[in-house]
Amino acid sequence: MQSLNIEVNTDELIGRLRKLASISDCSEPPPAVTRVVFSKTDLAARKYLQSLYEAAGLEVRVDAIGNTFARWVGTEPNESAVGTGSHTDAIPHSGMYDGTVGVLGGLEAILSLKRAGFIPRRSIEVVMFTSEEPTRFGIGCTGSRAMANAITLEKLANLVDDAGDNYDVVRTRAGFSGTFESVRLREDYYHAWVELHIEQGPELEASSLDIGVVTAIAAPATYSFEVIGVGGHAGAVLMPKRRDALCSAAKIVLAIEYLANKSFSPDLVATVGHLQVHPGAINSIPSQVRFSLDIRDTDMTNRDDVVAEALAWAGRIAKQREVEVRHQCLNSDPPATSSPKIIDVVEAACACENVTHQRMISRAYHDSLFMARIAPMGMIFIPCRAGVSHRPDEFSTPEQVAKGVAVLARTLASLAES
Ligand code: GLV
Ligand code: MN
Ligand code: MN
Repeated sequence: MQSLNIEVNTDELIGRLRKLASISDCSEPPPAVTRVVFSKTDLAARKYLQSLYEAAGLEVRVDAIGNTFARWVGTEPNESAVGTGSHTDAIPHSGMYDGTVGVLGGLEAILSLKRAGFIPRRSIEVVMFTSEEPTRFGIGCTGSRAMANAITLEKLANLVDDAGDNYDVVRTRAGFSGTFESVRLREDYYHAWVELHIEQGPELEASSLDIGVVTAIAAPATYSFEVIGVGGHAGAVLMPKRRDALCSAAKIVLAIEYLANKSFSPDLVATVGHLQVHPGAINSIPSQVRFSLDIRDTDMTNRDDVVAEALAWAGRIAKQREVEVRHQCLNSDPPATSSPKIIDVVEAACACENVTHQRMISRAYHDSLFMARIAPMGMIFIPCRAGVSHRPDEFSTPEQVAKGVAVLARTLASLAES
């Protein structure tokens, strides 16, 4: 191993994170961020990244759906590369660290290795994945799913946003072209994959630790529900005659919460975070409601059992209230396990950098869930204040970010030599 003195340029990195946060559609100022995939703002953020990659002398490739690869070419360019990266899309009203730390931190890891005089044998590549967040198309990680052959290309092309436009149309309008088939990566494309991310939970901060070494990523699933009742005049239709779609949906939502609370698994979490009411008028009985269900567990069988129970409850509520309930499974993914070899490499990097760490699971999902299908995978977590994420007050200190980047840099260096 080449001896390395890694010096992260923390000020520049935080400056870039702030600049990226300023490219936002949020009604509130930064650090509140909204950046939905394929919006003008997403494209502006991509342009900013491109300028950074060019300045760093990296070779940039953009695939047919906008996944962006910036490569530091190694001395053996035909060998499988070492990959890192994350996403820069941001859910409405979120914070400035989710995903961005992995992309800009990946770039800074490369820059710090360059400054240290490291010469990589394998190429090192930083990836910005398209659409890790499910905001626009209802399903997360579309970029990495497509790379890892974890979604049929037909299903991907036909995902529809709230405006009724499909993925294919929207990505074309955003300026991305080429066949969906070309997005898939060969099984030997990456020798190893490592993602740096904020923890999005409270454990590291509570234990005053610098780094989380991820051993597994919990299994996520997403469903959409539609409740069809009967609308009518809010003054004229008396209560016994009502078949209110929203009241029925509310019962189902509370049943889901009840089932999640009573699950034996402490890792089972269920969230209804998006609900649309039709016709959405003050004085009109809701005739139709659509809502989402995001449900996860480290134990996939338990997750699916809870979904089955929730569907049974929904059926009973529908019968009682004389409404119709339909559901659709958008994704139902198995968990992913980190590579023991990468866990060892990350832990060795922590020792070299003199930072404290613990092994932990990721309750949030990440593009690494899908990269694990085509490469040995690992993840490096840094603490975030009070475990807060997907909120404007999401925060990690510059020192915490810098430690994560230093560990990432050493990990990439070690993997690029192996
Ligand atoms: C990723 O953003 C997740 O919801 O876990
Ligand atoms: Mn997120
Ligand atoms: Mn993320």
